[in-house]
Amino acid sequence: MTVSITSDLLAPRIDDRLAGFLDDWRPPVSDPDVAAAYQLLVDFILGGGKRVRPQLCYWGWRGAGGEDCDEIISAAAALELCHAGLLIHDDIMDGSELRRGQATIHRSLARLHEGPGAEAFGQAGGILLGTLSLSWSDALLSSCDVPPDRLRAAHRLFDAMRTEVISGQYLDMLAQLRAGASVEQALTTIRYKTAKYTVERPLQIGGALAGGEPALLRAYSRFGLPLGEAFQLRDDVLGTFGSSGETGKSALDDLREGKHTVLVAHALARATPGQQAYLDAWHGNPELGEEQAAELRRILRETGALDEVESMIKERVEQAMEALDAAPIEAGARAALAILATRLAHRDS
Ligand code: IPE
Ligand code: IPE
Ligand code: MG
Ligand code: MG
Repeated sequence: MTVSITSDLLAPRIDDRLAGFLDDWRPPVSDPDVAAAYQLLVDFILGGGKRVRPQLCYWGWRGAGGEDCDEIISAAAALELCHAGLLIHDDIMDGSELRRGQATIHRSLARLHEGPGAEAFGQAGGILLGTLSLSWSDALLSSCDVPPDRLRAAHRLFDAMRTEVISGQYLDMLAQLRAGASVEQALTTIRYKTAKYTVERPLQIGGALAGGEPALLRAYSRFGLPLGEAFQLRDDVLGTFGSSGETGKSALDDLREGKHTVLVAHALARATPGQQAYLDAWHGNPELGEEQAAELRRILRETGALDEVESMIKERVEQAMEALDAAPIEAGARAALAILATRLAHRDS
């Protein structure tokens, strides 16, 4: 069996574990509107997503010498519940309408209860459903039947991960409020809001559950942080230059919202006064339409910002691959992680 086939077979196992868990945690109260909200959450969790974090957790375990088994699938699925909760909250904070090609949870909830309070209701309900998914992630990780010291170590990493991602999300919100962000600040934000929870910590959680040594967990960090940054840099490029068909998100969101990405930070650092004025006028302007978006994309190209971000992605992938080559891990896991790294940096599957 080739590595890529093994990786592709993981997603259905993770989905089965998630479906079983969600079935065990049906609404405690009998009310059709509560049931409808639960169903939205279940459909969101089971209905899409690349399952990046669970796959990394699985290979983190295998890299530490763990055998294939159901226990690691539970831990991997726990990461997906955490991710789902973060996405639901993120879409409220970013005012996003579309996620995974469908209406976001807060938008769907608002539509279920049309009327003057619908928007506020949708947001409040989204906060609750996101929090529920985050809370469930703990329960699912705790169900993992491994020696208690290993589970404790994994929980500590899981706690650190949630603290980091929430701090990163807060930095992201602050950048909207402040007058932008430098390239350095934008990089710090993506390290915390994405790289750690998407790549570094999932690998380490898998590794810790298998009893991995500190040297292995450090190697996962050297591989995971640059790769996680490359993943978000690619997301930023696709968020502005990709289509909603490719990303499942609106192609205008990042520009209209005025997200202070590394891409925009580079453009601002190199813009002519005319380009700077255009960026000031339209980046983050809720009135932004296709025409202004096209002009902003032109500026991102002409300032060299897009090329710069592409070379930052390349540099980080190379760094990650070097770290992977040097890591003290099992050979099959090394090969699987190399394939996953390429997929993450290019979103080619
Ligand atoms: C989206 O993550 C949020 C980011 C950190 C960029 P993914 O791209 O992994 O989202 P899904 O799970 O596949 O929808
Ligand atoms: C999402 O960040 C990161 C988390 C959910 C923690 P973004 O806001 O940059 O990503 P998208 O574009 O909504 O997926
Ligand atoms: Mg967002
Ligand atoms: Mg966001």
